[in-house]
Amino acid sequence: MLKLNSFTVTDEKTHPTQVMRRRATLSHKYELFYRDPLNPVQAQDAWITDASGRKYLDAYNNVVSVGHGNRRVIDAMTNQAKMICTHTRYVNDELCRLSERLTGKNEGNNEWRSIFTCSGSEANDLAMRVAMQFTGGNGFIVTDHAYHGLTALTQAITTSMTGYLELSNRLGLEIATIPSPVGKNEGNSFIDGLQTAINDMHSRGIRLAAGIFDSFFTSDGLGLTPKGFLDDAVRLLHDNGALYIADEVQPGFARSGSYFWGFQTHGADPDIITMGKPMGNGYPMAAIMFKALLDDYIMDSYFNTFGGNNVAVAVGHAVLDEIEERNLLENAHIQGEKILSELEQLKESCVNISSVRGSGMSIAVDVVTNDGAPNADGAIRIVEAMKQRGVIISTSGVSGNTLKIRPLLIYTNEDTNFLIDQAQSAVRTVFS
Ligand SMILES: Cc1ncc(COP(=O)(O)O)c(C=O)c1O
Repeated sequence: MLKLNSFTVTDEKTHPTQVMRRRATLSHKYELFYRDPLNPVQAQDAWITDASGRKYLDAYNNVVSVGHGNRRVIDAMTNQAKMICTHTRYVNDELCRLSERLTGKNEGNNEWRSIFTCSGSEANDLAMRVAMQFTGGNGFIVTDHAYHGLTALTQAITTSMTGYLELSNRLGLEIATIPSPVGKNEGNSFIDGLQTAINDMHSRGIRLAAGIFDSFFTSDGLGLTPKGFLDDAVRLLHDNGALYIADEVQPGFARSGSYFWGFQTHGADPDIITMGKPMGNGYPMAAIMFKALLDDYIMDSYFNTFGGNNVAVAVGHAVLDEIEERNLLENAHIQGEKILSELEQLKESCVNISSVRGSGMSIAVDVVTNDGAPNADGAIRIVEAMKQRGVIISTSGVSGNTLKIRPLLIYTNEDTNFLIDQAQSAVRTVFS
């Protein structure tokens, strides 16, 4: 999946010693973005500066959602580091308060508990183990171009990477994949796919553990409609004894512009919620929240050396304070709507754009050939043209022809206008 927008060694003559040094010392499995890789050295708010002093608008970042170099986050991090940084086996009211703030964002009457981790992969890994313990099953249902992490368990359900089936066999997992619900109202056929996967598992005598879905199907290319389809899917999972793990690593923390969590746009009822990326605005922190009845199925004496340490907790509060006090949910909605409506107009004037969809600061644009076929090469050319114009975006989706645009929640009107102007110019140039 990461290969979609990556530098290849055949481009090496345009690349100086730094790239060769990387190759000499780092694993060759690391990817670099762009045909002409970027060397960012400094960043503030939504803007990144490279080593030559050139500035780029960051429209591909759901980690530093509340802004590069965010003062409140940096102060929280450094002040706490100066005081104390230790682990969760000591009394810490701020840790409890962070859990209360996060669980308080869930609807319904359930009692929720949390465990803090350092990465989204760790959170999903634990979620999968809880689901297996609780149900006694080893069957997982995922979409066919999903990303859920890099631990053994989570790679085994990461269908956007090759080798997941072999790994899942080795681990004794049963994986059923269903077509990504991406495209206009594809959520409807998603339910049919889910029913087929459940029937298939039953006919093979496999007990279901969980369906695990990114609530926005981000790596699949962004699947959002019709509203409510995820809720229907969750009911189906529950009716068949499976849990629903809402992977909120990408859509969580106000990105949707409508709700704090992505699944809330569907009114869905998850059993486990996993989160990460924007949670620490760059500080490595993540978490799993689960309905209290699942607590007995977590391994005894769970301990994570760094997860939930005092610095992580201070940072977690600062990020939530930023989102709440600066009304970033509303800002994501306002700026996201503006970007979407301008891109929609661009689509009307260009046959090579077949679909524009999004919610808040999660936006996808499908690029096609004149005949309407997926056009991955055209998408990459737009990504490169955007970079030349000083904007960073990337691609995703099953066919690699989807532009993935994830602006920061703190965009100003000027940032938004710059993104729109450059997108219009890049698309016109590529398809002139
Ligand atoms: C939907 C989703 N889940 C889980 C993960 C894994 O998170 P991490 O990279 O923090 O381990 C990612 C990372 O990209 C993700 O996009």
